Amino acid sequence: MKTMLAKATETIAIIDPEKSYSYFISQELFIEGYEVETFSDAIECNRFCEKNEIYLVIVCTPQVNDECDFVSSLQILTEAENPEHILILTDSISEDVLKYYHGLGLHHVMRRQDDINLFKRMVYKLINTVRTPFKKPAFSNIIGEDNSIKEVFHMVERISQSEMATVFIRGESGTGKELIARAIHENSRNANQPFVEINCAALPDHLLESELFGYEKGAFTDAKHTKKGLLELADQGTFFLDEIGDLNVRLQIKLVKALEEKVFRRVGGTRDINVSMRIMAATNRDVEKAVQEGFFREDLYFRLNVLSIHIPPLRERGRDVLLIADHFRNQFNEEHSCAMSGFSTDAKKLLQKYPWPGNVRELKNAIERAVLLGQKGKISPAQLDLGRRNGSNGFHLQQNENDIAVNIPEGGISLEAVERALLQKSLEMAAGNKSKAARLLHLTRETLRYRLRKFGLE
Ligand SMILES: Nc1ncnc2c1ncn2[C@@H]1O[C@H](COP(=O)(O)OP(=O)(O)OP(=O)(O)O)[C@@H](O)[C@H]1O
Ligand SMILES: [Mg+2]
Repeated sequence: MKTMLAKATETIAIIDPEKSYSYFISQELFIEGYEVETFSDAIECNRFCEKNEIYLVIVCTPQVNDECDFVSSLQILTEAENPEHILILTDSISEDVLKYYHGLGLHHVMRRQDDINLFKRMVYKLINTVRTPFKKPAFSNIIGEDNSIKEVFHMVERISQSEMATVFIRGESGTGKELIARAIHENSRNANQPFVEINCAALPDHLLESELFGYEKGAFTDAKHTKKGLLELADQGTFFLDEIGDLNVRLQIKLVKALEEKVFRRVGGTRDINVSMRIMAATNRDVEKAVQEGFFREDLYFRLNVLSIHIPPLRERGRDVLLIADHFRNQFNEEHSCAMSGFSTDAKKLLQKYPWPGNVRELKNAIERAVLLGQKGKISPAQLDLGRRNGSNGFHLQQNENDIAVNIPEGGISLEAVERALLQKSLEMAAGNKSKAARLLHLTRETLRYRLRKFGLE
């Protein structure tokens, strides 16, 4: 039977982790005149929603009881305050199931086995009741539903709306400080203005100064041309000072003056340059202690600490570790054309028990490695290989006279895993002496320490 639609052109998104049932319904909806897009998870779907107008999202719940995928889908969709645009298709509707959906604000639930015409009538009804496209989700790339991280999302939302207020983001290495900084920028009124970042731990002092403030021609021997500093380039947008806890005191003084007066001079310059922007800074250091010990200027601390966001470590985010792990499993399946279908029960237990010193970054690396190693089937604890400090990852590097010979394992390897291995090896060869390890890798001690922290190797 053809339903009552005269001409339907609205786009419907279907999220179906198994991609089997969606094939059937998308054909039916297509015949009715709808545009249909199918996605294997809500993150993919949200990316599409950011650029396109969607009138209804149909979520096919997975047959296998894999809560991770499913809960993360619902969480992201309901976070975006679009519950009236969502239709759940499930196998069984028990009272418990209904209660669960209603708790999430989802009231449109149907059985998969229901008559297809009933389903089409429901779609027609929902689209014609809503009549507005799906509201774009704000933070679709940041996964988490634990209350601790939800508080962070709410702050991010409020801060984005605030006019240019300074934000200080705190949290252990790899917790997502940069991700949050970008999210604030992207959701603010200045989103179309530049987002400029500088990593205060990655550059030696003299370079840092000229990067920050720029220089005039002739200011020093190598200053052949005038160069604008990053502060200047960030005008009207956002300037993100990452690892600010590592900035030396001399530059702290210069910076606090520039931030307070919104005026500075290029190195070797005599002209005042006025700027206006949102300042964000991040650190994983105990800056309060650094202030007490005299390593961090109190005036800079107060200047930055206007709105403060603390990102909790991953080990304190409950079941989020499974949600995020699942998100990365999907991402790396796609990136590396693999088909890891989920996690074994033991792997899930391990993910929840492990303390994650390197937080989300460490989790991301572990999942990428597991996906590459496994290719298909369920991810096992052995593939996760957590807490490994010295194991070989199959990557070999040999320096000949004029070039470097590299061997990449058959399963491939991420650059991050290679960097991690180099860092571990340098420490091993230097018997833990960081200055020696830094010399082996031709890095400054600061840069080495920054990278060790980044990989949770300190
Ligand atoms: N909640 C999250 N959901 C999805 N991905 C995340 C989440 N949090 C962090 N990530 C990812 O983890 C990695 C590390 O995040 P990020 O670089 O923002 O951390 P950081 O706190 O700035 O780390 P560092 O202190 O080492 O600079 C990035 O690839 C980021 O995209
Ligand atoms: Mg960072």
